[in-house]
Amino acid sequence: MNDRANFGSKLGVILATAGSAVGLGNVWRFPYMAGQNGGAVFIIIYVVCVLLLGIPCMISEFIVGRHGQANTARAFRLLSRGTPWALIGYMGVLTGFLITGYYAVVSGWCLQYVWASLIGHLQGDPEYFRTYFTELSSDPVKPVCWTVIILGITYLIIEHGVRNGIEKASKVLMPTLFVLLLLIVCASCMLPGAEKGIEFLFKPDFSKITSDVFLSALGQSFYSLSIAMGCLCTYASYFSKNTNLTHAATQIAIIDCLVAILAGLMIFPAAFSVGVEPDSGPSLIFITLPNVFAQAFSDLPVVGYCISLLFFVLLSLAALTSLMSLHEVSTAFFQEEFLMTRKTAAVIVTVTTAVIGAFCSLSLGAVQGLSFFGKALFDWFDFITGQIFLPVVGFLTCIFIGWFVSHKIVRDEFTNRGTLPGRFFHFYIFLVKYVCPLAILFIFLHQLGFLN
Ligand code: PHE
Repeated sequence: MNDRANFGSKLGVILATAGSAVGLGNVWRFPYMAGQNGGAVFIIIYVVCVLLLGIPCMISEFIVGRHGQANTARAFRLLSRGTPWALIGYMGVLTGFLITGYYAVVSGWCLQYVWASLIGHLQGDPEYFRTYFTELSSDPVKPVCWTVIILGITYLIIEHGVRNGIEKASKVLMPTLFVLLLLIVCASCMLPGAEKGIEFLFKPDFSKITSDVFLSALGQSFYSLSIAMGCLCTYASYFSKNTNLTHAATQIAIIDCLVAILAGLMIFPAAFSVGVEPDSGPSLIFITLPNVFAQAFSDLPVVGYCISLLFFVLLSLAALTSLMSLHEVSTAFFQEEFLMTRKTAAVIVTVTTAVIGAFCSLSLGAVQGLSFFGKALFDWFDFITGQIFLPVVGFLTCIFIGWFVSHKIVRDEFTNRGTLPGRFFHFYIFLVKYVCPLAILFIFLHQLGFLN
């Protein structure tokens, strides 16, 4: 397997993997979670969780992937020496596969909003935006088409391979995303009354800390770093033997936190400036925000138009780079396990995830009968992947690396076969053995409602 694809440069490694991490989780989920959980305190806890728990989990997945130089299932199989631990890899691939279709639906909404902003349909009063979103998400045709379109774009990138597809695309998309982000942050922070939003984000009110805030921040940090979906493991299999895994994980985590905080700085100053409460939940981006932009820039409609358009372009780019990494998990799996060409593997993944995506989308109102036990199929995918598989795979990966895999192998990968000092190795092992599994166990119990 010496001719296996790899990333061509260090920058490519960082941008592609950061592209996986930076996604709807940062721009869509993080702001509403911060809004609902007290702003600054949530952010502080979130950053601590990323540094102390997220980074070691990322390094663990990197170790498995780079050691195996193969798709997630095979990488785990190689290290598990014929034991059932190999199942973690298969679960990782399955999680990545299942979440692709569902993530594509939300990414499709973003594209639809780009289109709507472009043709000037995102103008009106708060009620208009609410109806617009409800009608869109329950429409039988439009969201399915957008899901297929975004998966088609992902396919075109993935089909070009690791270096010419993923790496090249990330090198263009990520800097563009960053510039757009800074532009909108500037516009939002210059609005009258923006200070209140900045204060909400940065002035902690410690009375707001509850176990709920704590565990939500923990869960968000894992989701946001793409932990336990096979993505990090798959991408790490394309890293070179000289990539410093600790540095890479730290840099990616910092970029991810930075983008999340900047997303907050894009949204809250504008929301406070027009007196909209930031705690509206998942609809924050699709209902509250277009309204906030429309009101905040009502004197300068052209600026409002551009900001709204740029915002949804940004959101779509963030979604696309994450979708690429999710798609790659299954593509690499099919390609290597069933000895197919990359193209055939990518076609299979695109078609099957498009079907899953279509069913998820239709379950939101267009077709009756796609709800089970009172939950739409879409919500089931969200629940099973995010709240069951993610913690289970994350937990098992930590236990696997911390307790099962020989520390010699782990140390070899951690220090690039002894060429790096590996000063933090013992601290890393301590976190992976005890702290991370316990933390994940708490998130899991909390999400299932056993812990409040
Ligand atoms: N980390 C991505 C985000 O923040 C979500 C994601 C999870 C992407 C898992 C890929 C894999 O949106």
